[in-house]
Order: sequence, then C-alpha cells, then structure tokens
Amino acid sequence: MSRVEPESVTTIGIVGCGVIGGGWALHFLAQGLHVLACDPHPRAAERFAAMAEAAWPQLVRLGLKPGASLDNIQFLGRVEEVASRSDVIQESTPESLESKVAMLARIDAAASPDIPILSSTSGLRMTDMQVGCRHPDRTAVGHPWNPPYLIPLVEVVGGELSDPAVVEWAARFYAAFGKKVVKMDREVPGFIATRLQEALWREMLHMIDAGEATPEQIDDAVRFGPGLRWAILGPSMVYHLAGGEGGMAYVLEQFGPSLKWPWTRLEAPELTERLSRLLVEGCDRMAAGRSLAEMTADRDHYLVELLALLSRDRAGKEPS
Ligand SMILES: NC(=O)c1ccc[n+]([C@@H]2O[C@H](COP(=O)([O-])OP(=O)(O)OC[C@H]3O[C@@H](n4cnc5c(N)ncnc54)[C@H](O)[C@@H]3O)[C@@H](O)[C@H]2O)c1
Repeated sequence: MSRVEPESVTTIGIVGCGVIGGGWALHFLAQGLHVLACDPHPRAAERFAAMAEAAWPQLVRLGLKPGASLDNIQFLGRVEEVASRSDVIQESTPESLESKVAMLARIDAAASPDIPILSSTSGLRMTDMQVGCRHPDRTAVGHPWNPPYLIPLVEVVGGELSDPAVVEWAARFYAAFGKKVVKMDREVPGFIATRLQEALWREMLHMIDAGEATPEQIDDAVRFGPGLRWAILGPSMVYHLAGGEGGMAYVLEQFGPSLKWPWTRLEAPELTERLSRLLVEGCDRMAAGRSLAEMTADRDHYLVELLALLSRDRAGKEPS
C-alpha cells in the first residue's frame, strides 16, 4: 500500500479495540470507512458488538455518511495483517510507554513506509514512543476524547522525528472524517485539553481530601455552573463576556490581582486509601445502582442532543 490523500482513505486499521479503539471503529464505520481491527482479548469482537448495539442508534440520529454500515468491520488475528492492509493505522492499546514503543515498532515493521501510524495516547510524547520505528517520520499522535464516536475533538501533534507533512496529513484526515482538529506545533505532556482537565482534577482531589466538598457537590457545581457555558464558549471567551463592555482587558484589571491569592493548590495531593475511598463511594452514590450501560446510554443521549443543538443556528435551522 502507499499513502493516499487523507480525503481518499477507504480502510483504517484499528489496533487495540477497547473503550477507545472500539469507539474509533464505530466513528469511522459511521463515516463510511472500512475497518480492520485486532485485539487479543478473547471476547474483543463480542465486546465491540455490544458497544455497537448501544451506540449505533445514536450515530444514526446524528446522520451516517454514505456507505456507512456495521458490516464493514473485520477482526483479524494479527497486528501485522491489519498494518499491511490499511491506508492509515490508529493505535489504541494500553497506556504504557514500554508497550507503546514495542507496538509502534511492530506496526512500523509491517506497514509500508509511508502509511501514517497514529496513536491515541492520552499524554505520552510521540518523541518517546517512536524510538523503535524504522520509519518514525510517519508517526503522529491523534488524541481523541471519550467516546470518540461522539466527542468531536482530536488533538494532533508529531514527535521530534515526525515529518510535519504527516502531522498535516493526520489533521486533514481527521477533519475530512468528521472530527474537530486542534493541531499543535509543539509537544506538551497531556496536550491541551488533558492538561486543563488535570488541573481541575487535582484541585477537586484536594477539596475532597480536606473535607471541603464532596464528589456530589463538585459534580453539581460543574454540571450546573461552568460546564453549561463550556459547551458553548471556551474559557477565554467566558471571561471576555464576563468583563462586560471592557471584555477581557477589564477582567484582567479587575480579577488579575486575585490570581495571586492562594485559591488553587496545583501540586497533586497524595492518593491515600482514605481519599480513594471517598471518591469511589461518592461516585457509587451518584451512580445510584445504575449499570455502566445505562449511564453510558444516558451520556450518549444527551451528547447527541447537545451536538444537534450546537449544529443548528439560533432560528433552529440546520447549517447549510
Ligand atoms: N479511556 C479514555 O478516556 C481515553 C481517552 C483518550 C485516549 N485514551 C488512550 O487510548 C488508549 C487505549 O485506552 P483504552 O481506554 O481504550 O484502554 P482499554 O484497556 O479499554 O483498551 C485497550 C485494548 O488494547 C488491547 N490490546 C492489548 N494488547 C494488544 C495488542 N498487542 N494488540 C492489539 N490490542 C491489544 C486490549 O485487549 C484492550 O482491549 C490509551 O493510550 C489511552 O491513553 C483513552
């Protein structure tokens, strides 16, 4: 195989078909692509079928691309078979540097030298993962958000040995197949969105540890407060609007001094047994006996409603 234009991809290889790889497979099937998947889990195909049964109706509601079908996935026994028969490979195996290095090297050895190899890693640097590849120039990160079949964002970045043309190829590929791409020029651990999420996560752990707030209070505070605005505006524009006529400049003048106050404690707290228990018990209370399948279905239902809402203009018309 040789590299095709990103818009002309017909077959994607999915290596690792768990939460993220399975989600990617569903996304690309809904986009009309053929998927070649592999995963050594003894029930990988069965697990994927269960995921598809729950999620496909949501993808139908959002609108399938021509030719989209759940029949277009094939599970193969070996990574090498997937790598040698795909136009592009999306790697979504467990997050460990050692195993990612080995897996990318294995894919690299089997795929033609110019076939792009993209990794779903949540925060590892491609510079560190591409070291075992003979052709590291065709590797890049394409970091999705869960579930990849509904959340549009993909953060794209290359490593030191990645060819910028391949990073650009990856950005065009994801954009052509239904994703909102944020292409980064430099590697930063955790990319953009995971870093921001991590800051909130650390502060939340401190508050629970200090007995200042429960998991329920924190979830309510985000869901019914800033979370609603974040679905529409990014954090910079939230502040810009909050500054009234003076916008961001006035916000900086008014609230800048408070940034020096010790409101946040960004060092991570120690994850003691007690803190872990408080978090797990809080989540169990909020889950209130609902199964993972029920909670996933609820999440997906509202995500689809929100995506449909955000794609309409204020008069309720679909964008032309
Ligand atoms: N879960 C998330 O919210 C999330 C979000 C974005 C990115 N990611 C990233 O996606 C990647 C996968 O995470 P996940 O949450 O899907 O994990 P997961 O454990 O659900 O899935 C990993 C899958 O890889 C399979 N696997 C293991 N060895 C393999 C091999 N040799 N060949 C093929 N498949 C193999 C496992 O059987 C498993 O099904 C990680 O790099 C993670 O950081 C996860």
